Amino acid sequence: MPDRSEVSLSPRPASAGAPSPAAGGSASEAEKPAVEFRDIDIAYGKFVAVRDFSLSIRKGSFVTLLGPSGCGKTTILRSIAGLVDISGGQIMIDGRRVDDVPIYKRNIGLVFQSYALFPHKTVFDNVAFGLKYRNVPKPEIARRVGQALDMVRLPGSEKKLPSQLSGGQQQRIALARAIVFEPQVLLLDEPLSALDANMREEMRVEIKKIQKATGITAIFVTHDQEEALSMSDRIVVMNAGSVEQIGTPEEVYETPATAFVADFLGKANMLAGTVSKSDGTTAVTLAAGQTVNVTSPRPLASGSKVTVVVRPQKLSIGAMAGANRLSGRVVSTSYLGGSAIYEIDIGGKTNVRANAPINGHVVREGETIEVGFDPGGCVLLDESGQRIS
Ligand SMILES: Nc1ncnc2c1ncn2[C@@H]1O[C@H](COP(=O)(O)OP(=O)(O)O)[C@@H](O)[C@H]1O
Ligand SMILES: [Mg+2]
Repeated sequence: MPDRSEVSLSPRPASAGAPSPAAGGSASEAEKPAVEFRDIDIAYGKFVAVRDFSLSIRKGSFVTLLGPSGCGKTTILRSIAGLVDISGGQIMIDGRRVDDVPIYKRNIGLVFQSYALFPHKTVFDNVAFGLKYRNVPKPEIARRVGQALDMVRLPGSEKKLPSQLSGGQQQRIALARAIVFEPQVLLLDEPLSALDANMREEMRVEIKKIQKATGITAIFVTHDQEEALSMSDRIVVMNAGSVEQIGTPEEVYETPATAFVADFLGKANMLAGTVSKSDGTTAVTLAAGQTVNVTSPRPLASGSKVTVVVRPQKLSIGAMAGANRLSGRVVSTSYLGGSAIYEIDIGGKTNVRANAPINGHVVREGETIEVGFDPGGCVLLDESGQRIS
């Protein structure tokens, strides 16, 4: 392990953190991935918490593990830090197997949901902890703590105790403590969950800025899809210990690979139907009886059961409704200012949700309207819930 104590906490060249077309690291890159998981399994006793997990993380990128509570996100972070053993596969940091590196020598910064600051130590001592531990000379410690506090925008707070700070400020100190020794990887486990909504949004931006400025490789864990979409270079959507999809925020949102991803990210409309014709465009007869024309990546056999996935933002109403028009009755209206979310009964058993701009007037409960989407405004899933490609 190189001695990093001489390296200063200074902005790195922009190229280190800039996304590339191969965001997240492809085999063609000469540079080793910052972190690589190869088919790892992790079990607690007989219970397998993580199965066949593979992921390659490009240096300087911001990758988010997104999934519901209990899907194995924390377990994966703990495995990088060496706090839990893997039962199969390999984890590499900077091209080196971590099994070969004792926990205390792994150069990893950690930030948790609970700030986990030492309550009786000052801000200075909290932030300096990792540097003292690494035997960095005293004047250097003072300089670097000062820089880290500048970075999290709490300059001059060295003498305060954690109890004198707000939750958001304590989390900034926890962040300063994690980045001050310039770790190879920064692990953030739901760091914003304990903060109130306003502070959470502010901290999203703040963490992203710091990550970009330092060029640090970050692995962020959350169950909040908005956090994941707004902060990440790449998102790993997880379900029950396995990967459902890995992609950029746009990819996982626009082209969900599975029914789980479509539902977990933004509650898509899932319209069950049967293929009635498929040449050029594909006609799908929905459970409620209407037929819609959709773009399919390939011709499908008549009679195949499919699900048409349409995002609420892709459903338009009234005169704006796209080529596939369905008539329905508004069941509920949530006015949001510039737009409204309408829940619309189109017959059958499922209502659809449309998030549409306000054109002239807000459509009220009970009104009958047309709702529709374009053939290309949807994704098709097969019977097993996998995207048809
Ligand atoms: N120390 C443990 N012993 C036994 N089971 C555990 C332990 N830690 C976590 N688990 C189980 O492993 C699964 C994944 O947990 P975790 O990684 O904490 O999920 P997440 O962070 O996504 O909420 C859950 O079912 C959880 O109950
Ligand atoms: Mg967790």
